[in-house]
Formats: sequence, C-alpha cells, structure tokens
Amino acid sequence: MKNVTVIAHPLVQHNLTRLRDKRTHPQEFRRLLGEIASLMIYEATRNFRLKKISVQTPLASANGFKLEREVVLVPVLRAGLGMLDSILELIPHARVGFVGLKREETTLRAQFYYKSFPKNVGDFEVVLIDPMLATGGSSVAAIDLLVEQGAKHIRLVNLVAAPEGIAVVQKNYPRVPIFTAAVDKKLNERGYIVPGLGDAGDRLFGT
Ligand code: PRP
Ligand code: URA
Repeated sequence: MKNVTVIAHPLVQHNLTRLRDKRTHPQEFRRLLGEIASLMIYEATRNFRLKKISVQTPLASANGFKLEREVVLVPVLRAGLGMLDSILELIPHARVGFVGLKREETTLRAQFYYKSFPKNVGDFEVVLIDPMLATGGSSVAAIDLLVEQGAKHIRLVNLVAAPEGIAVVQKNYPRVPIFTAAVDKKLNERGYIVPGLGDAGDRLFGT
C-alpha cells in the first residue's frame, strides 16, 4: 500500500500481540502501549529532514546535523495519550498539541470537543498519534483541524489500522504517510477493527 509503512520489527509485533490479548489488564496495557510507541517512533521519524550545522568539539570543528523543523506531537484524545509520554522521552524538545474527538456509537462520526496547537504549526513536523485507525473518521477530522491551522508536514502513527480507514485517509490526504504496526482484516458492523484489540481508550483507562 502506497504511503503506508507497516512496522514489522519483532519487538513491535511481540508487544502488539500482548496488547491484543483480552487478558491484558489496563496497567499492563498502558506499559506495553508506551513501549511499542517508542519502538514505532524510530521508524515513523526516519525521514525527518536534517540541516547541516557545525559544532566545536573540545578538539576541533565537527560537521553535524540538526532537525530542519521543530516537532509537535498531537495525540488524539483519549487513546493517543497512551503513546505520548514514551515518545516525549525520545523527543523531549517536541511540543505537544491535542485534538479531542469522540466517535459517536451509532453514526460512528467523530465528534469534536477540543483542540490546542502551537501557533506556527505550519513550520513543524506534526506527528499525529492515535492507536486506532478504524473508519478513518477521527484521523481525517484531526488532519482537517491541523490543515485548517496551517500544518503542512503531517504524518500519522497508528497501532492498528483497518483497510477501510487507510482508504479514507488516503482518499482525503494522499500525501500524509501512515505508520502502523498492523493492517487488520476489516471493520465489523459496529465499526470495530477485527481482530483489533477492542476499544483502545477503554482498555487503556479501564472504563
Ligand atoms: C477511538 C480511537 C480513535 C477512533 C478510531 O477513539 O482511539 O480515535 O476511535 O475510530 P475511527 O477511525 O472510526 O474514527 P474513541 O472515539 O472511541 O474515543 P476515546 O479514545 O476517547 O475512547
Ligand atoms: N476505536 C477503537 O478503540 N477500537 C476499534 O476497533 C475501533 C475504534
């Protein structure tokens, strides 16, 4: 699939399987989601652009690099929060934006309730974080909000994606790359990813 990277690293796949397991309770789920997020972020940021700089070592001048753009992490509330802290440990200079969306149970439409982005988000590398890409409604709504605010360099990091959701994101935003640990079979009649891992927010927060 064009512009979709499935992160097949053995540690990612090991953790993902434990997250899928219905016996994994919220405490363990939180830990595993954090761990998998830090493993995934290496791949998801691999093509961040660099600019050349030089620094003075104690001995001489050395050529090196600096990220060309600042980074903003944007978790989609609530479940995206489960991936935020561990990514921040790896990119501690990142800023953090938020999008609050709640999928309405019958229509499956993403209802907006909150947003907060840095002002000059157009200058940033935006990493949109949401464990689940199901119908794609939430991811597209979050990207819409970012684009309205001027964001130009957006990438989407999911844990589990449904083919239906990938198609919707790609139809609306073909240039937004998607990084995921798995592309599952399908959505069921209630819009849940099968086999998926259930409701990510509920499993994370024990609701
Ligand atoms: C879940 C998930 C995604 C969304 C995906 O959130 O975390 O944001 O559903 O579904 P979609 O692709 O069909 O839009 P939910 O709306 O259940 O909110 P929550 O994280 O607060 O539980
Ligand atoms: N949201 C979830 O948390 N899980 C799904 O399978 C679909 C949407």
